[in-house]
Amino acid sequence: MIVARTRAELAAARAQLPDPVGAVFTMGGLHDGHTALLRAARRECASVVGTLFVNPIQFEIEQDAATYPGDEAADLRRFEAEGADVVFVPPAHEIYGPEFATQVCVPTLSGVLEGASRPGHFDGVATVVVLLLNLTRPERTYLGQKDWQQTRVIRQVVQDLALGVAVRVVGTVRSDDGLALGTRNVRLSVEGREAARAIHRALAAGAGAWRRGERGADRLERTMRRKLEAEPGVTVDYAVARNPFTLEELSPQAGAAVLLVAAWVDGVRLIDNFVLGDGLVDIDPAPLLADAAAETGSGPPTPA
Ligand code: PAJ
Repeated sequence: MIVARTRAELAAARAQLPDPVGAVFTMGGLHDGHTALLRAARRECASVVGTLFVNPIQFEIEQDAATYPGDEAADLRRFEAEGADVVFVPPAHEIYGPEFATQVCVPTLSGVLEGASRPGHFDGVATVVVLLLNLTRPERTYLGQKDWQQTRVIRQVVQDLALGVAVRVVGTVRSDDGLALGTRNVRLSVEGREAARAIHRALAAGAGAWRRGERGADRLERTMRRKLEAEPGVTVDYAVARNPFTLEELSPQAGAAVLLVAAWVDGVRLIDNFVLGDGLVDIDPAPLLADAAAETGSGPPTPA
């Protein structure tokens, strides 16, 4: 595995890779959610390029980027174990030189939900993803359902700007208790982790109502809120049912929906979602992780 730290090193390594190339972009702190993306890429592509870059412009508070959890050596070991051919680990100045002035923005999708709570966040994500796509030039890029709104923003940018890359969405990887894996989960206390399970319970209750035929966004949202508000350790930011493509209001005739929750537990912001409807998530992570789970004897993580 080649570790490239400059654009020139990346370009040289990329030029040697057989096509098709699959790209997995990360900010480090790798867990089985990232592993699922890497395995999906490994399975579908001749070569895999990973990136490890804590993108400062997608954090509203500089300090959050500086203290983002991650251990480069451990992350590189995981990339290697998952068969990545090249990992790009640039210092910030390699990405954002002093003259960098461009921003990629999708105003409709970026201003709501996560974007409303974290102004500028998706502009930072979209900008770095376009740049990383241009530097790595993959045929396919793999994104996690966990960040559903991010997948919608990136799909829109790829389509509008004709970037010519296939976006492949991998379902959310969860721990046995239902909590979606996330790099920041390490900051939860034992009690916080217990409280955080309410997020999955809320989504499951909303999905149950949907399966019984409920199509009213208000009632779906009330069902989720009841579960969340029963847990004093959880402070809800939003718990909504939306159109899964546009993230706008859900119409009563909708054939598909996304339930999205954002909440604070122990001062940690947690997000999760269930996508209701066929064909919206491309790849089920469970079979990709089955052997890893067998090795640890902990049983396969449950996807949603
Ligand atoms: P990061 O949070 O490191 O996530 C990297 C990729 O892993 C994203 O596509 C994310 O959706 C996916 N992922 C995270 N947790 C997951 C889980 N539990 N199950 C499945 N996939 C999961 O998302 C980012 O970084 C950044 O915004 C980035 C795209 C790298 C741009 O800076």
